[in-house]
Amino acid sequence: MRIRILGSGAGGGFPQWNCNCPNCRGVRHHEINATPRTQSSITVSANGTDWVLFNASPDIRAQIESFPPLQPGRSIRDTGICAIVLVDAQIDHTTGLLMLREHTAPWEIYCTRAVYQDMTSGFPVFTILGHFRGVNWHEIDTAESPFSIPGAEGLEFTGVRLKSEAPPYSPHRHNTVPGDNIGIRIVDRTTGKRLFYAPGLGKLEPHVRRYLEEADCILMDGTLWTNNEMVQAGISDKLGSEMGHLDQSGEGGVMELLADLEGTRKILIHINNTNPILNEESIERQQLQQAGIEVSYDGMEWDL
Ligand code: MLT
Ligand code: MN
Ligand code: ZN
Repeated sequence: MRIRILGSGAGGGFPQWNCNCPNCRGVRHHEINATPRTQSSITVSANGTDWVLFNASPDIRAQIESFPPLQPGRSIRDTGICAIVLVDAQIDHTTGLLMLREHTAPWEIYCTRAVYQDMTSGFPVFTILGHFRGVNWHEIDTAESPFSIPGAEGLEFTGVRLKSEAPPYSPHRHNTVPGDNIGIRIVDRTTGKRLFYAPGLGKLEPHVRRYLEEADCILMDGTLWTNNEMVQAGISDKLGSEMGHLDQSGEGGVMELLADLEGTRKILIHINNTNPILNEESIERQQLQQAGIEVSYDGMEWDL
């Protein structure tokens, strides 16, 4: 399978429009060694022609312009995106659907029932799209049943429920149910290679462990370096744990979770603009490097 990182940043992107934190200021004024990032999305294909989009970020328009295989090539109105998978109902992962309203057929969208509920109530993007060409919803269950996507037959998908947080407009905020957040295992049916994509992970539950262990490549929640990073920056009163994001450096954090996995490519994604790893000369970035963990960037692309 071919994997393309469309957006490696968390909600707000990097730099965030109203943020004057050292990272955002530094990258804006070219004072630090860092690269701007758009908001969280990847796309995957088995044949290089038909692409499954994972999450539709508010930056989708620029992301499509940055990646020719998604652009119209065959007819007057056309796209390389054959289906869309949503891992949650957060703004950074779903707002882009509104920018895709000109699609000439209903969008084939795969998400859990909990996400579908948010998308038809608290943040009724699916309802709004119903006034355009509509949405064909395909339910991803919370029982880890593998599924196929027409147009992407070379790949097998499995939704894996993750403990994280539901959006502020969800009835499940602070009281999550299975399906508010999922990770996705993607298996290439030809090579057998496995990718595990989890841009929002608050806590590792036992059933998730095997997906990490069996993966050839993990794209893991890279939101925060420390749990109180946004509090310390004077930006928010929220801890990472309250937002459903496990930090990298703390006890039981992402570095520790990934430490004993051997032969697995480990890459962080959904990186918040406050995270010191965005500064490529930071000590924190060096620590990651020593731990064999990569930091994804917009435009990163590889075969698995
Ligand atoms: C999250 O990942 O916690 C959300 O996307 C935050 C946001 O609303 O930007
Ligand atoms: Mn997010
Ligand atoms: Zn910032």
